[in-house]
Amino acid sequence: ARKIIFDTDPGQDDMAAILMALASPQELEVLGIVAVAGNVPLAHTERNARKICELAGRGDVPVFAGSEQPMGRKLVTAEHVHGKTGLDGPDLPEPKAKLQAKPGIDFLIETLRAAKDGEITLCTLGPLTDIGLLLTRAPELKPKIREIVMMAGAYFEVGNITPAAEFNVYVDPTAAEIVFKSGVPITVMPLDVTHQVLLIQPRLDRLAALGNRSGKALAEALTFSRTFDVNKYGTEGAPLHDPTVTAYLLRPELFGGRHINVEIETKSALTMGMTVADYWRVTGRPANARYMREVDVEGFFGLLFERIARLP
Ligand code: BDR
Ligand code: CA
Repeated sequence: ARKIIFDTDPGQDDMAAILMALASPQELEVLGIVAVAGNVPLAHTERNARKICELAGRGDVPVFAGSEQPMGRKLVTAEHVHGKTGLDGPDLPEPKAKLQAKPGIDFLIETLRAAKDGEITLCTLGPLTDIGLLLTRAPELKPKIREIVMMAGAYFEVGNITPAAEFNVYVDPTAAEIVFKSGVPITVMPLDVTHQVLLIQPRLDRLAALGNRSGKALAEALTFSRTFDVNKYGTEGAPLHDPTVTAYLLRPELFGGRHINVEIETKSALTMGMTVADYWRVTGRPANARYMREVDVEGFFGLLFERIARLP
């Protein structure tokens, strides 16, 4: 199985991404989960990560505390989407597992140090703070990273937290810039992909009807965050962002995109955190990211239902 580490700020859609991976032990070995501040402060995101593991019957997956504040600026949160806890909606079981005492950044560094070259895949579902710090503190570990697969950014869809920026990049543009300039292989699931996988009511009903507690809790969680998005976008369903990362790891052929240059805006107040993605290759700047644009929507949801159904 491919060895992965999640860096995440759960988040209802983060929950979907993590559950999908925990349901796929043949393909994915989740070495650990590092919680980062993003949708809500760290005290909530780390707790939510442990609740998700408990729900899936996987209290054995270690959860670590990552960064409390972005590298470059003060934390911006999104309670207006995810609720006060970041995971409002379901009544999740209290986690039996404790938060690991080791800081998340040390877990990342030690795990990579002990790994073979190209052995570890980092999956980021939130701001890139921890990965920015990792690459700054231990740049010699870059060869250990097989790939960073991230939900981040946008090009034709532009922004969701500001007119120009996607939330995960906007929260910590400094960290995102470090990651995009690092030379590590990067695959990006931007809003252009996630705004195609819409959680319309029949799909939500299907999730709730899977018959297991994980499907029910996930449906309750996504019902909560969906309300905000449906009102905001005026669409029939809400975009499902973070599980595209897990779906890509399981079935890359569901996605299509281009290897292009992506630069991050870190200075302009107006376009802070914008992912300037050279989709048409007009700059001549070297490609640094595989930017996805196409997704097989039915294939994606089929995979989501199939995996969530495997859980308790
Ligand atoms: C991203 O922002 C968060 O609110 C979601 O969990 C997702 O990771 C979408 O812009
Ligand atoms: Ca997230």
